Amino acid sequence: MCPDIFFAPIQGITEAEFINTYDKFFGEDIFKYFTPFMRMESDENKIRKKDLKKIHTINIINIKQKVIPQFVANNYNDLANFASQLSAEGFNEINWNLGCPFPMLVKRKLGGGLLGDINLITRLLDQFFSQAVSVVELSVKTRIGIESPDEIFRLIEIFNQFPLKYIIIHPRTVMQQYSGIPHKEIFYECINISKKPLIYNGDILTKDDYNQIINLLPDNYERKIMIGRGILKNLFLPAIIKGNFQESNNFEIVLKIQNFHSELLEQYCQRLCGDKNIILKMLQHWEYFSLMFNNSAKIYKTIKKSRNLNHYIENVNKIFMEYDLKF
Ligand SMILES: Cc1cc2nc3c(=O)[nH]c(=O)nc-3n(C[C@H](O)[C@H](O)[C@H](O)COP(=O)(O)O)c2cc1C
Repeated sequence: MCPDIFFAPIQGITEAEFINTYDKFFGEDIFKYFTPFMRMESDENKIRKKDLKKIHTINIINIKQKVIPQFVANNYNDLANFASQLSAEGFNEINWNLGCPFPMLVKRKLGGGLLGDINLITRLLDQFFSQAVSVVELSVKTRIGIESPDEIFRLIEIFNQFPLKYIIIHPRTVMQQYSGIPHKEIFYECINISKKPLIYNGDILTKDDYNQIINLLPDNYERKIMIGRGILKNLFLPAIIKGNFQESNNFEIVLKIQNFHSELLEQYCQRLCGDKNIILKMLQHWEYFSLMFNNSAKIYKTIKKSRNLNHYIENVNKIFMEYDLKF
């Protein structure tokens, strides 16, 4: 059975330009895209203008069904405001981030920092669902605890009490950040106690990684999975997992990557000013893209040395001409 693949949000990378471009070239294999988390303007009950602008820049077909806006909030006012403002924008589902491990957020009880106050999470969910501020559905994306992986079990019992749409679990603790390996065994245990659909997320880089996770899940598990860095490192990963990857020759594969790259660059050129900013943004992507090639370190270094946009384009053309794909 083909899984539904949810594209994980990656702050600074899976922004509007990336979603637009990815969807144009590879969109048939993605079920939903999640935006990087949005925030409120400080001291105002309004979503930050720059976050809304990013949402408005997404121009894919069916955006309201295919894109789920994500936010961070640690009080009812913000939660309700995100719901009502995003509902007014036409979205019918929003996602609450309970996982971001960045210390600045954690310190302020936002993202993963909220996992340290389960009573507050309970209170906010209770208020949200009892006051029915809007018609949007709510899902959460969470880690499994601040320090200890078994903190999630109490949280699942709380989630069971509310009509959440589903729960996406990245089974690392906040303290782990991105180190170590995900606690898959904890995810499997959660399935036994959760009354809500659970979606696995974390370190799926190949079809084998996907199979390993899926093979240990019960037969009645709805095959939904979230992938982030794995897709950035191999743009064809969703197609490979779903069995839709045509084993065409390497020339065609590299041509698709090249066309994808040109479109992405063009979109960034429309938003960003100055060669340096554009190259820096593309460099963030090359950190991942370069891994589709055998000589990835050399490729990344070449791109990094680009002096200006013309030089960058020269370097990129050379890379695509001399391609040595891993496929
Ligand atoms: C640089 C970076 C930024 C991220 N930004 C977000 C974010 O805005 N919201 C979120 O829920 N997760 C964010 N994540 C976490 C990813 O969505 C995902 O949960 C994590 O990378 C594990 O999945 P993966 O191994 O498939 O990438 C971020 C991860 C990274 C590395």
